[in-house]
Amino acid sequence: MKKFSVVIAGGGSTFTPGIVMMMLDNMDRFPMRELVLYDNDKERQAELGEALEILLKEQAPNLRFSYTTDPKEAFSDKDFCMAHIRVGKYDMREKDEKIPLRHGVIGQETCGPGGIAYGMRSITGMMEIIDHMETYSPDCWMLNYSNPAAIVAEACRVLRPDSKVLNICDMPVGTLRRMSQIIEKNPEDLEVRYFGLNHFGWWTSVKDKEGHEYIDQIREYVAENGYLTKVEVDKQHMDQSWQETHKKARDILAVNPHFLPNTYLKYYLYPDYEVAHSDPDYTRANEVMDGREKEVFTAARNIVKKGTAVEGGFHIDSHASFIVDLARAIAFNTHERMLMIVENNGAIANFPDDAMVEVPCIVGNDGPEPLTQGEIPAFEKALMFQQVTVEKLVVEAYIEGSYLKLWQALTLSKTIPSAKVAKDILDDLIEANKKYWPELH
Ligand code: NAD
Ligand code: G6P
Ligand code: MN
Repeated sequence: MKKFSVVIAGGGSTFTPGIVMMMLDNMDRFPMRELVLYDNDKERQAELGEALEILLKEQAPNLRFSYTTDPKEAFSDKDFCMAHIRVGKYDMREKDEKIPLRHGVIGQETCGPGGIAYGMRSITGMMEIIDHMETYSPDCWMLNYSNPAAIVAEACRVLRPDSKVLNICDMPVGTLRRMSQIIEKNPEDLEVRYFGLNHFGWWTSVKDKEGHEYIDQIREYVAENGYLTKVEVDKQHMDQSWQETHKKARDILAVNPHFLPNTYLKYYLYPDYEVAHSDPDYTRANEVMDGREKEVFTAARNIVKKGTAVEGGFHIDSHASFIVDLARAIAFNTHERMLMIVENNGAIANFPDDAMVEVPCIVGNDGPEPLTQGEIPAFEKALMFQQVTVEKLVVEAYIEGSYLKLWQALTLSKTIPSAKVAKDILDDLIEANKKYWPELH
């Protein structure tokens, strides 16, 4: 079987060790000959790189491994780039979450003003790594999960329309695993129909391979419990704040009992509740810095100190195995069905062609082929149109350096009550993002 050469962009990410472990665990399905970590923060990445070097020497001595901040070294001779960068790191995530909350508005990584601010930073970093990839390995595919994926995907559509970049999200995968527990099935045996934008969509069907429909059974459960299940699905989405999110799906379902919702809809449908239940001095960024980030970097330091990764403290991020499925689908033309963020082009019949939507696709060696989802109802369509227009305005504001368009984007966001509040937040965000955003006039 062919062996692949892979670069992970955002090598210093809290998710890097878990994903590397997952890829090691999947070497029989997706064999690698080389793995390189790339980051623009040398020190941060080196902490993980040093530990992974020790671990890989022990567990995969034939795999060539290195870590670097040099784009040429990182991106030369590559088949796949797995990208998970966070421009501005946790410092800026904290600001994305706390600034809006000071104005009584949702403070969230990918939704509302926080997501918009993060999007304005991510576009620069994403275009930079796409260009590195295309300079040094023009045939390489980028599998991107850097957030906010919706805005990143729209920026790719406009700024790099011919680039081989696939934007993906793990939330529907994770939620499907919860559904599979509810109906006691294997997630691999389930096929879904789904429509929406990233972090903004609905399942309309969940069937097994024999064609039996489970959506009613799942809806009944969710109407009572949300997606809260007893068994651990993955470590990350078990934190207390995530449990609250899974539970809240119950209230999202109540507004539209026909379809099963993506959990992120809570920020748009219940913003007042979410703000009231947020601590403006301690947000998810703080939780992650005190939790996952500390755990991962402490584990890395311990491995380096001991000189061995046996009983090392890095855990397989098995929920991320869909990334391997996607790489396999392209590498081996498997025609696997998976949710992807793609240009609509009729997949949702009554929605603009040029909107980046999240729908099931058949993925082969040319990339994704979207499956048509038909017409969607007025309520969902209107919500989606409002949100997708926000995302498009952000990308236009970025490209044109337009203050007005960014103000409009914030004003249009369902999370913000007025143009006045939008402007107040915008002015604070501009101040906080001086180092990262293009200048706005
Ligand atoms: P993190 O801050 O721990 O790691 C991100 C790394 O990216 C840092 O080491 C940083 O130095 C690096 N980086 C920033 N800009 C860069 C650039 N221009 N070039 C190279 N490297 C750069 O963040 P994290 O919490 O581990 O998350 C990583 C990313 O993955 C985030 O964007 C997060 O939102 C995303 N994510 C997405 C999904 C999804 O469903 N799509 C799921 C999980 C995480
Ligand atoms: C889910 C989403 C990702 C998001 C992550 C945040 O997995 O799909 O897009 O980045 O949650 O998780 P965190 O633990 O960092 O808050
Ligand atoms: Mn996501």
